[in-house]
Amino acid sequence: MRVTIRDLGEMKRRGEKIPMITAYDYTSAKIVEEAGIPIILVGDSLGQVVLGYDSTVPVTMDEMVHHIKAVVRGTQRAHVVGDLPFLSYHTDIAEAVRNAGRLLKEGGAQSVKLEGGRHMAETVRSMVRSGIPVMGHLGLTPQAVNQLGGFRVQGKTSKAAVELLEDARALEEAGAYALVLELVPSQLAEIVSERISIPTIGIGAGVHCDGQVQVFHDLVGLFTDFVPKHARAYANLAAAIRDATSRYVGEVGDGTFPSDAESYSMKASVVDELTRQTGVSTSTDSG
Ligand code: KIV
Repeated sequence: MRVTIRDLGEMKRRGEKIPMITAYDYTSAKIVEEAGIPIILVGDSLGQVVLGYDSTVPVTMDEMVHHIKAVVRGTQRAHVVGDLPFLSYHTDIAEAVRNAGRLLKEGGAQSVKLEGGRHMAETVRSMVRSGIPVMGHLGLTPQAVNQLGGFRVQGKTSKAAVELLEDARALEEAGAYALVLELVPSQLAEIVSERISIPTIGIGAGVHCDGQVQVFHDLVGLFTDFVPKHARAYANLAAAIRDATSRYVGEVGDGTFPSDAESYSMKASVVDELTRQTGVSTSTDSG
């Protein structure tokens, strides 16, 4: 049985912090689940860290479904959240519900995430009424980067902070089961976490959120194009992969890879017969 939205709500009530991480493929999803992660977000950050786009804007529904399926295949216990990509839920509510449904029906996710506050409340309500659990996302909403004018901290004035709190309440009231708070001052995240009953999951939002989310590639030191201030790398996989690959390049070049132990062989009688037929005598031992 996978972790449910109810389990996540109970974690908040017990004061137990919720660690969430992104994953985009079978192998990494399997590893993070083995490490004890209860909730995985197949984020549209996939656009930047996996597909090489310069923002999340170009990511499509088909790309999301493809990667969600892989993460679901790699996990058994973790709750998998599928991110709705830009313009898949903005134009009309019926289309939004259909697209959210695709992430559950085709992808196999257990819930969806969408960005935006009060203006998304009706959309969230319709999804929840259709049986689709929704995680909200406030603060820096990367799909609106062109509107926001860059990746900057949100809710820094008291007016903006009160608006964000209103957005959070509206999403809770519409039935969202949790909220991502991205790039907001920690004091504001603390107030929101105190004022709403659903879990807040922070990224660049300080320690007082009910949970934290990190992008997998930041956490393991794999994405080097840009490292945000709020990211903490617990490993340096980029360096480990570079080092492993350059040793491989060297060992292919000097003929020390593959060894006999890493190769397959034929019986001596077959090799002799082949040598007679082709005129080529081989240099490796037969087995
Ligand atoms: O797409 C993503 O990875 C996200 C997280 C940063 C919360 O939305």
